[in-house]
Amino acid sequence: MQGKTVLVTGATNGIGKVAALELARLGAQVIVVGRNAEKTRATVDEIQSATQNPNVKSALADLSLMSSTRALADQIKRDYNRIDVLLNNAGGIFYERQVTSEGLEMTFALNHMSYFLLTHLLMDMLKASAPARVVNVSSNAHQLARKFNIDDLQSERGYSGFAAYGQSKLANVLFSNELARRLKPHNIVSNALHPGAVATGFGTGQKGGGGWFAGTITNLILRFGLSPEQGAKTSLHLATSPQVEGVTGKYFSNSRETAPSAAARDEAMQRRLWEASEHIATPALA
Ligand SMILES: NC(=O)c1ccc[n+]([C@@H]2O[C@H](COP(=O)([O-])OP(=O)(O)OC[C@H]3O[C@@H](n4cnc5c(N)ncnc54)[C@H](OP(=O)(O)O)[C@@H]3O)[C@@H](O)[C@H]2O)c1
Repeated sequence: MQGKTVLVTGATNGIGKVAALELARLGAQVIVVGRNAEKTRATVDEIQSATQNPNVKSALADLSLMSSTRALADQIKRDYNRIDVLLNNAGGIFYERQVTSEGLEMTFALNHMSYFLLTHLLMDMLKASAPARVVNVSSNAHQLARKFNIDDLQSERGYSGFAAYGQSKLANVLFSNELARRLKPHNIVSNALHPGAVATGFGTGQKGGGGWFAGTITNLILRFGLSPEQGAKTSLHLATSPQVEGVTGKYFSNSRETAPSAAARDEAMQRRLWEASEHIATPALA
């Protein structure tokens, strides 16, 4: 990865942090995107000292906010001249419905809109760096959603943390596939993945705690789940491996291509989500 620049969102914890560390170990210039200045600085220091790679940089954004995502993209365009790999990884589950200051439901805003908007805003850089890769961390939880709820993107008609999470992870695959189609002529690939059930900060520290069911699942994953090192493997495979050069519009688990749900393969829905997201993101795209 020498000479390549990789941007990793959610790189201050869990899967993203390990991915950033391993990419730095492979010699890439790594932009660690975090939301907390102190934690992000500590992560950069930790990765630099573990890898002896001085080209580990930081950038800050609250990715649940389009304005902040936009400011991040502006900074990246100012400070760097290429992005070879964009690893869209930041995400979370929210057991109580929350609405961002921009009026979007939090799960949708963070898990889907940040992937959509950041990729959109960095598109010219990706094109100029081609062959480039976009890697979208989804989840097999996308299968919780039998169909994509295009008419209720903000979960206004009823909310459950798991349902909203499943929808957002389905959105990741729908987005990844539509992006793949649109970027094919530009020699940029886009793939989505399931990292496994991984013992990270995921699902912890949430308002409301999610009740006994969510608590039990989180505890089981923390106890028996994969390590973050194992969980980062598929992201790293898609970000770096020559084996997947030119592979696009696919879904991976365990570093192997596998079929996502039928709902995720619905091309008409992929287009509709793209158009709806573009509409929602209009103020930030202007
Ligand atoms: N863990 C699993 O079992 C599992 C399974 C399937 C899919 N996934 C997916 O894997 C991805 C990474 O999750 P993880 O398990 O590594 O979780 P994690 O340990 O909770 O890490 C999440 C990362 O996202 C960042 N983040 C959260 N909210 C943010 C915001 N508003 N703005 C900017 N950054 C924000 C966090 O920052 P802080 O460090 O500041 O908290 C952290 O760096 C997610 O997309 C998740 O859906 C996880």
